[in-house]
Amino acid sequence: MIVLKTSKELQLMKEAGAVAAGALKAAGEAVRPGITTFEIDRIARKFIEDAGAYPTFLGYNGYPAATCISINDVVIHGIPSKSRTVKEGDIVSIDIGATYKGYVGDNAATFAAGKISPEAKRLSDTTREALYKGIEAAVAGNRVGDIAYAVQSYCEERGYSVVRTFTGHGVGTQMHEDPSVPNFGTPGRGQRLIPGMTIAIEPMINMGTHEVVQLSDGWTIKTKDGKLSAHFENTIAITKDGPVILTKV
Ligand code: MF3
Ligand code: CO
Repeated sequence: MIVLKTSKELQLMKEAGAVAAGALKAAGEAVRPGITTFEIDRIARKFIEDAGAYPTFLGYNGYPAATCISINDVVIHGIPSKSRTVKEGDIVSIDIGATYKGYVGDNAATFAAGKISPEAKRLSDTTREALYKGIEAAVAGNRVGDIAYAVQSYCEERGYSVVRTFTGHGVGTQMHEDPSVPNFGTPGRGQRLIPGMTIAIEPMINMGTHEVVQLSDGWTIKTKDGKLSAHFENTIAITKDGPVILTKV
């Protein structure tokens, strides 16, 4: 069931989004060789709690942290750990949710640790740009397939593959609402986009195969071939005046 939001609710979602975006900015600025993913998680968590919000992921289906931190061939859902130290050349994807006044903001970005390879930079830049291509397609009257196709075609034209097992999603009082927002699809197909819908668009883009595997911790998702993956995400609103990014500092 798709829940349309009133303009008052969109305002609250903007506030939640600003907390999530601020936490992501603070976490991203902390990325450097030598820091542990546990420490990055603490920085994000403190930002969220200091803002009077709750880290949405913490306790979600038993998830043990405020953030997911996914390095190199880890696609998503990497669990922050005192034993994972960031190294020079790593690409570090950080995913953060904040719940504020009952509404959720969900966003992610891939950050560079020190100097990264040109290949890693190109993957990361392409994934960020793909998110914006998806957002541009998130216009009332379009369909979810238009977003999906915009992301997929942009990435595949550049030689990358799109993760299929995980998708973007509606967001609201719940982190995951309808509709599902895949990063692959057919223009003109799928749910029609209506003003008042709020969705998270989140391309997960791989250098090699689109296939992924889950580790025995029950969370960590890696590329099957061990090649790099990047992830960017924003929560956006569909409005009569076009897409509005809610996860903005
Ligand atoms: N941001 C992720 C998503 O969009 C959620 C992380 S899963 C959690 O699906 F369990 F850590 F919350
Ligand atoms: Co999400």
